[in-house]
Amino acid sequence: ISLGVVNSHVLSSSSTSSESLKKTIIDKCEAFIQNNKSSSANNCQKIWSAFQQAFVGRDPCNVPMEAYDPLIHTVIQDPVCNRMLFWSKTKKIVHDFTEKRDCFLTLEDTLLGFIMNGLTWCGKEESNETFTTGCPGWTDCVNNTVRSFWNRASAAFADAACGDVTAMLNGSIATPFSPTSIFATIEVKRFKAAKIKSLSVVLVTKENKGTTCDDPSLQDLQKEIDPKLKYNCKAVPESKIQYCISHPDTACGACW
Ligand code: APR
Repeated sequence: ISLGVVNSHVLSSSSTSSESLKKTIIDKCEAFIQNNKSSSANNCQKIWSAFQQAFVGRDPCNVPMEAYDPLIHTVIQDPVCNRMLFWSKTKKIVHDFTEKRDCFLTLEDTLLGFIMNGLTWCGKEESNETFTTGCPGWTDCVNNTVRSFWNRASAAFADAACGDVTAMLNGSIATPFSPTSIFATIEVKRFKAAKIKSLSVVLVTKENKGTTCDDPSLQDLQKEIDPKLKYNCKAVPESKIQYCISHPDTACGACW
């Protein structure tokens, strides 16, 4: 009898964790669809089921990005030419900026990016449970559940890029185009000159200090992209972007 009690306790606590991740994901999915009617063709139950099959029952350090292919293919999304905003080492400012305006969209402003932003999840070999704690960290192993998701979602976001594309990079660090970032290792490599007209780098600087558009790492970026693609770079003081963040009515074109 006592064994039965222990077992039922273990079962109920683990199923609580799975159930709460499922609820979190479906709630966020439905909230996004409420606020973005163009996403209403999506089915949040289907998205959950494609999501969980990528990692449940797997070693959390051995989930390749391809495991998320079915999830990526489940999501229905219109391309948003000319409005896509990539970023690296500028997470807070870029999302503060896109939050109150529609002229630019980051991955985290799309359905999947919005749902998974801030979440941690993993499975375990020979188990059908879902965990939200005790999962490997970003750099603990290359093919961890969470990192592979962001790699795959970023690849899909870059594959869809079209028209004039913008990237907000950090001019306060030594290497704004960091060779190990997702932006460098995945996104830039998938930019297609047939669909993309131009890449505009917005280099966020602290009052004209720090890195400039002449920085060697930005020259590397320029070398990486197809020469048919127009490239330009503009150093923009952080204060100017902060002004636009606190004045959401400022025309987007006036922010840099
Ligand atoms: N530990 C934990 N989290 C990390 C780590 C790390 N060592 N490195 C990256 N991340 C996660 C964090 O959530 C971080 O804010 O990835 C985010 C982005 O990392 P950055 O190095 O700032 O940028 P980058 O790797 O270039 O990724 C951003 O990829 O997600 C897409 O479209 C998005 O263009 C954007 C780019």
